[in-house]
Formats: sequence, C-alpha cells, structure tokens
Amino acid sequence: MPTNAPLNRKLRMGLIGGGQGAFIGRVHATAAVLDNRAALVAGALSADPLRAKASAPDYDIPADRAYTSYTEMVLAEAKRDDKVDFVSVATPNHTHFEIAKAFVEAGFNVICDKPLTFDLAQAEELLKVVEASGVVFAVTHNYTGYPLVRQAREMIQSGELGEINAIRSCYIQGWLRTRLEADNQKQAAWRTDPSKSGAAGCFGDIGTHAYNLGRYITGLQPKQISAHLKAFAEGRALDDYGTAIVRYENGALGTVTASQISHGRENDLFIEVDGTKAAIEWHQEEPNKLIVRKNGEPHKIYTRNGGPYLGAAAGASSRLPSGHPEAFFEAFANIYNTTYDAIIKRASGQKFETTDTVYPNVYDGVEGMLFITQCVESSKQDGGWLPFRHPKSRK
Ligand SMILES: NC(=O)c1ccc[n+]([C@@H]2O[C@H](COP(=O)([O-])OP(=O)(O)OC[C@H]3O[C@@H](n4cnc5c(N)ncnc54)[C@H](O)[C@@H]3O)[C@@H](O)[C@H]2O)c1
Repeated sequence: MPTNAPLNRKLRMGLIGGGQGAFIGRVHATAAVLDNRAALVAGALSADPLRAKASAPDYDIPADRAYTSYTEMVLAEAKRDDKVDFVSVATPNHTHFEIAKAFVEAGFNVICDKPLTFDLAQAEELLKVVEASGVVFAVTHNYTGYPLVRQAREMIQSGELGEINAIRSCYIQGWLRTRLEADNQKQAAWRTDPSKSGAAGCFGDIGTHAYNLGRYITGLQPKQISAHLKAFAEGRALDDYGTAIVRYENGALGTVTASQISHGRENDLFIEVDGTKAAIEWHQEEPNKLIVRKNGEPHKIYTRNGGPYLGAAAGASSRLPSGHPEAFFEAFANIYNTTYDAIIKRASGQKFETTDTVYPNVYDGVEGMLFITQCVESSKQDGGWLPFRHPKSRK
C-alpha cells in the first residue's frame, strides 16, 4: 500500500523546540519518522535565534526552512505549496499556548507536548480555537501509546476486570532531590520556575502523566479531587512531591502520587487497577509486561506481542516480535501514528474524529490543566475536596 493512502506521500513535519541541549524535541523528531510516514522539513528549534539556525543541520532541516522564531515560521510556511502538514510543539510550558494558537489559527495541525498550556484559562481558549479551526490536535501523553497499556484498557472496556474499584498511579523520580535549578541546569531551571512551569512543578510535569494514564486505562469519569503538594527542596518555589485522591463517578477511588525527590528513582511511572474480578499492574520501566492477578489463580504475565491472547489494540501498537524490548520511542510513535491517520483523513477531505480519539487530544489536555488547577487549589485548602469534571472532558 502506498505511504499514507489516499494521500500517497509522507507527511511534512515542523518542529518547535528541540534545539541543541534540549530533551524531548529529539524524541518527537525520532518517533515521528519511525514508521516512515513523515519527514521533518522545517523548524523553529530554539528560543535563541542563533541556536535555532545552528541546530537545523542536526535534523537535516534545510537552511531556508530553519526559522529563527515560530512567528516567522507560521508566516513563511503558510505561503508555501509544500507547507508542513503539522507542527510538533516541544517547548517549555509557558510557550505552548501562543505557539499552538498561532499554528492552529493558520490552519496547521498540531501535536503539542504536555501540560497543554500555562494555565486552565489558556487551555480553554486554545480548545475554542481548535474547535473553530477544525484542525487535528494531539497532546503527547505518550504513555498511552504502550501496547500493554492499550491492552489493559481493552481488558477493562470488555469487562474482564469487572467493576473498577481502585486506581493507584505513581510517577516517581529523584533527579530534583537537590536544587539543580540553582546551577541553571536547563531542564530543571524552567520546570521549577512558576513563571514558566505554571502553578505546579512536579504535579504539572509528571503528575499529569500519572493521572492521565489511569483515566485512559479505566475510562472512568472523575468527580472530585483532594490533594497535598509540597516543595521539600529548601527554597524551591514549586512542588516537588504530592499526592492526590480522586473520587470517580462510579464510586471508585484513585490516588496519584508524583515525586521528583526520591533517591535513585528514574522514571518509575506505574499503575495498579483493582476490579471486582481481577487486578492489573504495569510499570513503564518494564513496559513489555502486564501483570494480571485473580484470587485463587496463579499470577499471569502478559507480554507485548506475546500471542493471540492479546487484543487488537496491543497488536496494532507493536512492531517487533515479543522479547525484543520496545519502549519509549515506539510508544511515542504510536501516538504519532494514530494522529497521522486523522491528519491524512483531514488532508484528503474525509471525516475524522475530534473527540474520543485513540490519541490523546486537546480535550485530554484541558482535563490535565483542570487536574493541575484543582490540585494546587485543594492543597492550598489543606486537601479540601473540589469538583473535578470538565464539561468538555472525554466521554
Ligand atoms: N511527553 C513527555 O514524556 C515529555 C518529556 C519531557 C518533556 N515534556 C514536555 O516537553 C516540553 C519541553 O520539555 P524539555 O524537557 O524538552 O525542555 P528543554 O528545556 O530541554 O527544551 C526546550 C526547547 O524549547 C526551546 N524553546 C523555548 N522557547 C521557544 C520558542 N518560543 N520557540 C522555539 N523554541 C523554543 C528551547 O530553546 C529548547 O530548545 C515541556 O512542555 C515538557 O513538559 C514531555
């Protein structure tokens, strides 16, 4: 079959952020081309114009499409016949809104990193702009791209776990145990600065991922939230540890714990879900295994691509035979792939979904911003219970 039928060509990608010394932009660029469905052709790679230009050869971006700012890029790309089909936004949180809005208003599809924006008001404004423009908009809650995460979701949807009673999701890191920001370490500096990170630190950075993972796997609708956030590193302005409790509509209880101050912990995102018939457990540092338990039976370990017992979603999200580890890049690429399907439909005049999409979308991004807002507010109220359901949330 031709690439991206019926468009029959690779998609053209633009990248914002990802310049020399940056982290996640390179991951976006790698994941985006993993399945040979896109090519990176343009970018505004850094906030520093000189570095933006200097970083372009690292990505084989030609000099005439290596822009010194996203504003220059929007104007120049909009005029081209071979304009980019989508842009990926991999810049710090406080810049997402203005960058994404500019591209959406110019009719470009956008894949934006999380958290969606600096605050909830911006997220709601961006949502309106996306709805008005009709572009495809994805948010890289990339952990939902893991095959066995998708398997867990399918098992819950089909009732295999019974009624869901409890969700425990944790994202535990240790890299901010000391105040790296005091030495101006690039990734630490903006993440701990309230004018760049937003109202939360750790909870915005990784708490949002942990919450989103439980929401995606179970599909449960949240109702209320209570949280305690703390900054344990002396002099730090934003939280580096916290726990939230979520009450779900069906009576289930969820807890979300996020830490950036736990010695020796790297990217220990894990989730456990208890149902009336069975329970599951998944760890992103061991992503090719899913543990399923039932009282009175031996524990089962499902492996990625491990056989016909897996559902369609896991199968469609795997590339290699079982036993060859797939991980972060591949899961990221799975988000890209499902987003591409929508971009191709839009480009070829077909109807495409905007809500309840396979990929995390702008509605999930808005819910993530509500999560941050209510956690910060609840914590200020010493853990007071607050409403936690956005009218635009995924059904
Ligand atoms: N999905 C994930 O797993 C994941 C992982 C890490 C980071 N993130 C998110 O990705 C974003 C970037 O994080 P990072 O760790 O890569 O940050 P980083 O500091 O390593 O890189 C940010 C890059 O953006 C550039 N930049 C800043 N403002 C810009 C502008 N106006 N125009 C063009 N470029 C600009 C910087 O110069 C730098 O190149 C954040 O929102 C973060 O929350 C997501």
